[in-house]
Amino acid sequence: MVEYHVTAMRTEAVDMLACRPGQTVVDGTLGGCGHARLIHGRITPGGVLIGIDQDQDAIDHAHRVFPEQGAAVHVVHGNFVDLSQFLSQLGIDAVDGILVDIGLSQHQIEASGRGFSFSRDEPLDMRMDVRRELTAADLIADLSEKDMARLFSRYGEERWAARIARYLVEQRRMRAITTSGQLAGMVARAVPAAARHKQAIHPATRVFMALRIAVNKELDVLDRFLPTAVDHLKPGGRLCVLSFHSLEDRIVKHRFREMHDPCTCPPAFPHCVCGRKPMVRLLTRKVVRPSSAEVNDNPMARSTRLRAVEKL
Ligand SMILES: C[S@@+](CC[C@H](N)C(=O)[O-])C[C@H]1O[C@@H](n2cnc3c(N)ncnc32)[C@H](O)[C@@H]1O
Repeated sequence: MVEYHVTAMRTEAVDMLACRPGQTVVDGTLGGCGHARLIHGRITPGGVLIGIDQDQDAIDHAHRVFPEQGAAVHVVHGNFVDLSQFLSQLGIDAVDGILVDIGLSQHQIEASGRGFSFSRDEPLDMRMDVRRELTAADLIADLSEKDMARLFSRYGEERWAARIARYLVEQRRMRAITTSGQLAGMVARAVPAAARHKQAIHPATRVFMALRIAVNKELDVLDRFLPTAVDHLKPGGRLCVLSFHSLEDRIVKHRFREMHDPCTCPPAFPHCVCGRKPMVRLLTRKVVRPSSAEVNDNPMARSTRLRAVEKL
């Protein structure tokens, strides 16, 4: 496991949870355990940390970070979307805080060997949980040109989606596309040279992001998780989400607003007749971004966005 040298917005996120000794808190994305360690320190003595990750490498790392598990620390290999099931297995109904820090860990990018990075030549896998059936190579091999273009456009907001999909479909007729290096090279060749030179990012950045989102069903999982998470908070409990791109942040913003103001009555009604009551208070009216000092220290933190709610 490559250590997280700097976990993005570590203190801001954990401060937002307002953890106290004796509380029960879920870290849904253990990764390198940067947040989990801080939370654990703040809820000790008497607290319970439930740490989840869908990547077995992160779980192995968490067992090393928290060697003495038992009543105070539970490490769970699974997807945070299954939170209800994990809590019920532990005999816990509601918790004081939940944090998710979605996206890739440094380990996944640099050392997992699963093709998450366009700057490495590795098998084109991209599964965070290798028990999943479909890999990125499967998608590239099987999607129609139209579906591939839609995927790059929708999840990667890639301007050259149609052109890239056309090129990849032509190329895959000649040989299978099975490595990240192969894919990165082909995407770079598919983008017009003038556009390539103007881009500040590698031309394959958005395609890689789109594939990762699709392979791990990241947006669907996040959308289903947020209401479940709030259901499992005690009154006054807090849910804090760190996300890395606008599509994720849009889902978080929308779900939080919906839970904050679920009333469906037309604005012209003098008072509410639908009876839907707010479930949460917004702790972040506007998205919180990392300080410029943090971005200077850790440029990878620059796209991090933090939003949080408190259950009423
Ligand atoms: C950005 S890292 C988390 C870093 C962590 N907060 C830290 O301080 O080191 C994201 C981690 O979340 C995991 N992950 C992403 N989506 C997940 C999901 N739906 N369920 C469980 N784990 C998930 C990834 O496998 C990865 O290890």
